[in-house]
Amino acid sequence: FGNGVLAGLNVLISAGPTYEDIDPVRFIGNRSSGRMGFAAAAAAAAAGATVTLVAGPVSLATPSGITRRIDVRSAAQMHAAVLEAAAQADIYIGAAAVGDYRPQDVSATKLKKHDGASLTLRLSENPDILASLSAQIAHPFLVGFAAETHDVASYAQGKLQHKGLDMIAANQVGSGLGFEAADNALTLYWADGAVELPRAAKPELARQLIAHVAERYRATRR
Ligand code: PMT
Repeated sequence: FGNGVLAGLNVLISAGPTYEDIDPVRFIGNRSSGRMGFAAAAAAAAAGATVTLVAGPVSLATPSGITRRIDVRSAAQMHAAVLEAAAQADIYIGAAAVGDYRPQDVSATKLKKHDGASLTLRLSENPDILASLSAQIAHPFLVGFAAETHDVASYAQGKLQHKGLDMIAANQVGSGLGFEAADNALTLYWADGAVELPRAAKPELARQLIAHVAERYRATRR
């Protein structure tokens, strides 16, 4: 893996979960720690890129070499921050676990328990960040992630196609991999190829991911 394979390029990366508020003290979230996305940001910076990192609510320090970090909470905020920064980006890597739904009504006051009664939350679908980007005429090279518990390959290839991506990094969640874990394993898919990156620590895996992203970017954009 050579130095400087992303020199001169602007890379935008999303990482971490999103929190969708229910009331002033409760939210719907997910188990993403941000580690995979932060490792990708560090690897992109080490490869010479100018890196903008859009982070959901995580407790991670900004890796060295990152030019700009934008902290957000909800999927709507992440959508707005990514779309704004994407205008300058050559490559977007969506490692964030973006909430698919948000509560339709956010209560201004703490919801109260009514003994014995069930509570129904109505949810609205959040906008899809990757799909919004791929719908734009001029958009960055798009790398998505897919986290699946089963049928990883077919779901990942489906998302590659219907979200209009240049590459997707698929990971199986569970058994000490994926969300929260120190290690991960990825299979990268693009239109006419695939490569398996076996189980490794996220920083190592991120270096391999960035090397493949750089190679595919050069193959399609030059
Ligand atoms: O953060 P860690 O603890 O290190 O864990 C890493 C990870 C498992 C979260 C990461 O490797 C990963 O797989 N991230 C994507 C998780 C996910 O929620 O995937 P998805 O299948 O729901 O979404 C597919 C792709 O669409 C993702 O690139 C996602 O960022 C994007 N998306 C999803 C919903 C939405 N509204 N907008 C999007 O852009």
